[in-house]
Amino acid sequence: MTTMVAEQFSKGLEDVVAGTTTICTINPENENLLYRGYSATDMAEKANFEEIIHLLIEGRLPKKRELKRVTKLLVQERKLQKLLIKILKQIPPSANPMDVLRTSVSFMGAIDQNRQFSIEDTKQIAYSLIAKLPFALMTWFHLSKNQPLPKVTKTLSFAGRFLQLVTGNEPDPFEERVMNASLILYAEHEFNASTFCARVTASTLSDIYSAITSGICALKGPLHGGANEAAMELILKFSSPSDAEKGIMDILNRKEKIMGFGHRVYKKSDGRSQVMKKYVQELSSRKGNTKYFDIAEKIEKIVREQKGLFPNADFYSAVAYYLLGIPIPLYTPIFVLSRTSGWSAHILEQLSDNRLIRPRGLYQGPPQKEFVPIDRR
Ligand SMILES: CC(C)(COP(=O)(O)OP(=O)(O)OC[C@H]1O[C@@H](n2cnc3c(N)ncnc32)[C@H](O)[C@@H]1OP(=O)(O)O)[C@@H](O)C(=O)NCCC(=O)NCCS
Repeated sequence: MTTMVAEQFSKGLEDVVAGTTTICTINPENENLLYRGYSATDMAEKANFEEIIHLLIEGRLPKKRELKRVTKLLVQERKLQKLLIKILKQIPPSANPMDVLRTSVSFMGAIDQNRQFSIEDTKQIAYSLIAKLPFALMTWFHLSKNQPLPKVTKTLSFAGRFLQLVTGNEPDPFEERVMNASLILYAEHEFNASTFCARVTASTLSDIYSAITSGICALKGPLHGGANEAAMELILKFSSPSDAEKGIMDILNRKEKIMGFGHRVYKKSDGRSQVMKKYVQELSSRKGNTKYFDIAEKIEKIVREQKGLFPNADFYSAVAYYLLGIPIPLYTPIFVLSRTSGWSAHILEQLSDNRLIRPRGLYQGPPQKEFVPIDRR
């Protein structure tokens, strides 16, 4: 048994197939990312995020009538529970916004009187969480700055409403498109660390609140979702592309990682980053400010030349958010707002054909020893 475990061992579970799925697949050779068979990068330019939520959760693209229903549901379900608002008021302004989201989901689970959690209930809770989380996040954010929560224009898309919640203004259609694309590209990514956590929790027949909370916990780290904030903080350290060139060389010489680069599955490039780069380039020129794009592009060039590494989805998304006027501590939370759709799809899939996820560990400790009572140690 031990030999079998040893043969199957792969550090960090690299290349280990941990389950079957019909939700998403990644082809690292051609950087193709498919959601239920459709190209995510293609949909980032052609679809709206509401359609993707339906696609992931229901398993098919919505017809007009279904899209209308989901869009309405996401507007209706946005209202936060009074008890949750009370809790949000108590979270200090210095808190990490990812912790605010984690606490919000966990608390919503604690006050949900439903104790059955059928697949249908789980699906309804998924839509409700997707609708509520932007409001929970931004309610706390504005409370922490003693400012009122901006009113939202109900007719705006999910992406547009979020931008309005952040800045207080109705976004122009191009800005809304950029935000929409980024939400689509962040929505789903197969068995990544946070999705795997969510599936493990679901596999114990816990509930969707616990499973989404697990996902948020894993996404917070800088090796996963946290990379978009770290990437922007890096870009802001430099005053010009030539300054960036020198600074990046110093970091690489110190053998430190450049956040927003590299990937466990992709080996040549990340197609999501190319879409976001295109949007950032256009957004920069529309805003008449190409400084951050120029610095980011220089960093991309140096890291590619020196390390053969490419920017992942987080790198240019970070620049897009900066140009859209979104404060940096909200970047990883945006990932949660989007990925809750993918996590929910995986939780539903896990529940529909469940088997407890319980891998083995390769033991490297001492052989069996006699227990020594405390007075003889
Ligand atoms: C994503 C990531 C965790 C994948 O990690 P992984 O598959 O375990 O790969 P490793 O960390 O083992 O990296 C393999 C090699 O590439 C190097 N490398 C990987 N990403 C790097 C980066 N961003 N900057 C510099 N070097 C990097 C490692 O130092 C290592 O070099 P070595 O073999 O000389 O030691 C990793 O690329 C990373 O830490 N990137 C930065 C964080 C990030 O952007 N995360 C978001 C992912 S979408």
